[in-house]
Amino acid sequence: MYYGADYYPEHWPEERWPTDAEMMAEAGLNLVRLAEFAWTRLEPEPERFDFAWLDRAIEHLAARGIRVVLGTPTAAPPAWLVRQHPEVLRVRADGRRVHFGHRRNVCLVSPVYRSCAERIVRAMATHYRDHPSVIGWQIDNEFGCHDSARCYCEACQGAFREWLAARYGSLEALNRAWGTDFWSHTYRAWEEIPLPFADALPANPGLALDYRRFASDANVAFQRLQVDILRELCPSHFVTHNFMANGFQELNYYDLARDLDFVSWDNYPDLRRSDPAQLAFNHTCIRGWKGANFWVMEEESGAPGTTVISPNPRPGDIRLWSYQAIAHGADAIVYFRWRTCTFGAEQYWHGILDHDGRPRRRYYEVQRMGRELQRIGAQIVGSEVNAQVALIFDWDTAFAFQIQANNPAFDYFEHLKRYFVAFHRRNVPVDIIPWSADLRRYRLVLAPALYVLSPDAAARLRAYVEKGGTVLFDVRTGAKDVYNRVAEGPLPGLVADLCGVTVDEYDSLPPDVTVPLVFDTPIVSTQKLLAHTWCEVLAPQGAKVLVRYGGQYYAGQPAVTLNTYGKGRAVYVGTIANPPAYERLVDELLSSTGVQPLLDTPPGVEVTARWQGQKRLLFVLNHTNAPQSMSLPGEFHDLLSGQPLSGTAVLPPKEVWVLV
Ligand code: GAL
Ligand code: ZN
Repeated sequence: MYYGADYYPEHWPEERWPTDAEMMAEAGLNLVRLAEFAWTRLEPEPERFDFAWLDRAIEHLAARGIRVVLGTPTAAPPAWLVRQHPEVLRVRADGRRVHFGHRRNVCLVSPVYRSCAERIVRAMATHYRDHPSVIGWQIDNEFGCHDSARCYCEACQGAFREWLAARYGSLEALNRAWGTDFWSHTYRAWEEIPLPFADALPANPGLALDYRRFASDANVAFQRLQVDILRELCPSHFVTHNFMANGFQELNYYDLARDLDFVSWDNYPDLRRSDPAQLAFNHTCIRGWKGANFWVMEEESGAPGTTVISPNPRPGDIRLWSYQAIAHGADAIVYFRWRTCTFGAEQYWHGILDHDGRPRRRYYEVQRMGRELQRIGAQIVGSEVNAQVALIFDWDTAFAFQIQANNPAFDYFEHLKRYFVAFHRRNVPVDIIPWSADLRRYRLVLAPALYVLSPDAAARLRAYVEKGGTVLFDVRTGAKDVYNRVAEGPLPGLVADLCGVTVDEYDSLPPDVTVPLVFDTPIVSTQKLLAHTWCEVLAPQGAKVLVRYGGQYYAGQPAVTLNTYGKGRAVYVGTIANPPAYERLVDELLSSTGVQPLLDTPPGVEVTARWQGQKRLLFVLNHTNAPQSMSLPGEFHDLLSGQPLSGTAVLPPKEVWVLV
């Protein structure tokens, strides 16, 4: 298993490099990522390349058996490039051009920038194609970060018009799709079509959605420009990119993942948001973008900080977060970063080593795990998470909700997480999938808030239910067509008959209002079950009522229904509820679909499984600061301690079992 660090030899005197390599090897590290921000070092002036320093750095690493992932440096252009071609700088939604002096400040559509990027990538690939230490590439760095997903420059304006012409074929079709009769927006020439600049009023929703799609495609195309070069020149190397999570939703990540060998991502749990369920959700999303295992290319290994400094990871956190990533399908862990830099905008973003480069607590924790992985890593790599429950994430829907949230408190990712958290609490694995995935391998498919509903998506979900599957839909399903126009028919639009229900009214609630929920089956829960944010008053057309509202003018009216259709069932949840209500709903779904939790554990103890054929590895992680006891169903062997475990067993705080 690869276990490594992001390393910036260019930040340190060359005399230090052998020490770094030696300390890395001592910590069990066998991989570094290099050079993703070193463009000016690699091409000090146009078309003059210098790889000698990087070659020497790699030699020291190679001497210790450490392999290399090279980053292409296109997230931060050299000053000479921007001075020569100021038009490569990105334009923000308010029309202002950004300045040099940060990163992610360029337009990925700009022909000049694309050709400069091509040149440096080609030069690097040519130089390193046969290097025995180099195993793969990370393209660019965190596409879309720092609000860079969309650019509003003239090059983008032109490219957008071409993209629209290809999509719609004619202006008549575009005018119809967007409904340009509204406010006299009808276009008679492609040159008349504007960009959706930030203004006092929002742009036409059809234009706004297409611009998000276009901009996402532009990032994917910029990545593909580099992928193509690397595939041509370095056919034996892998190609990846470091994605983001924590609610980042500016780029279609299914599209971005498609051209890569695997997805990587940057995991900064940061104690302010280190809720284990959130972290689990992040890993699950990342695994979902390609439907496959992934790498963590930047794993937090010290206190984050730029102007102010966040709390330190507590003893055991770095190792626990790393095992959690592995538990959810990571096949490599790479820490950000080897050593905390003394200069630059991130001089307070801490790595494994502090500024002084001496080994301390965090180094020894990384080392402990490094030695463990040397023993057990090979048994884990490549094994798969096999979930029976799927959660559909749709990027058109995400984009459309960004354009119109419907309720100020609504966020699509946060909403999907509500369901995820309830399954996570029961230790039931979930996959994130697109609606176009093969649904047959799942016993239960959740499609919450599938707002932009295409006829294709509706047909696939219908076919799945007909053949015996269970699908859950909820609020705002089918409210929009693919042009971001509101559906004409009664909601939930194209799946209304599948759900056997229509939405009579919807009520968008202010932040402080809750509405009691009354389940039709007797409740064992002592907690209040409450709706908030959004209430749809449902009119069953054949569906059975599961839950009713217990307040507002719709007291007694249906809130959740269940319909049998073909051999399967469709649940419709017409509201957003508090966590106990989701837990209760999830318990009913688990028992009716026969999906079994992996293990029953106390709160704060997470369980996942990875499979190698029939062989199962059970990861049990104690995220709490107290020992946790649980009863194990059978005889187990913990790979980490080498000890047998059975009956009632106690997992110490922040500790991990890997059970077979
Ligand atoms: C990531 C980025 C790294 C570094 C790190 C810490 O988002 O990829 O280059 O900036 O955050 O801030
Ligand atoms: Zn642009």
